[in-house]
Amino acid sequence: MATAVATAIDASELLATRRSPLPDALVSPGPDAVESARLFEIALRVPDHGRLAPWRLIRIAGESKARWVERLMAIVENRDDAAKTRVSTRKLASAPLAVVVVSKAVSGHKVPEWEQWLSAGAVCMNLVNGAHALGYGAQWLTGWHAYDHDATALLGLADGEKVAGVILIGTVAEPAAPRPRVSVDDAVTDLAL
Ligand SMILES: Cc1cc2nc3c(=O)[nH]c(=O)nc-3n(C[C@H](O)[C@H](O)[C@H](O)COP(=O)(O)O)c2cc1C
Repeated sequence: MATAVATAIDASELLATRRSPLPDALVSPGPDAVESARLFEIALRVPDHGRLAPWRLIRIAGESKARWVERLMAIVENRDDAAKTRVSTRKLASAPLAVVVVSKAVSGHKVPEWEQWLSAGAVCMNLVNGAHALGYGAQWLTGWHAYDHDATALLGLADGEKVAGVILIGTVAEPAAPRPRVSVDDAVTDLAL
């Protein structure tokens, strides 16, 4: 944390300039124990209508992370699109930390499921911005493994649970090129009543 505090930049500048690195540009080291604790504290501080906590997080690091990627690579071989998914799956290996944000929204509650899904998305975004604030990079992915039954079973997902995001986190070896952004004028309109 001492390093992160020392390199902290103005929060609005941080939010206005964040850029996701490519997955294989995220390398070790990842956040240490103190930084990880802070990161998860940030991740869980999200709007949550009805205080349902309609999400849970799975941390994948160390040897388990290497085994997770190996097991995904094995599942890939049974898929029709193996040639393509093999490449994207290999890219998961580089980052030292992956956090899977699982949506566990309940249907039939007075808080609509849609709002519960949005809260899981907010957890993903807080992880991305939180990692950035701590001096790391992060990339929010889904990909084939978020939807493949064998891949979600590997994570222990129950029926009705969905992967909201796999957040890859690590040191940025190489920043990504700037990405064109939607202009404020195109995205924002004023309600004129
Ligand atoms: C729900 C969700 C799933 C995503 N899945 C992928 C993905 O599987 N692969 C990918 O390259 N980018 C994916 N992205 C996009 C990246 O997170 C990111 O927005 C993109 O690389 C642009 O970088 P930026 O964060 O600098 O805008 C996803 C974004 C969201 C919100």
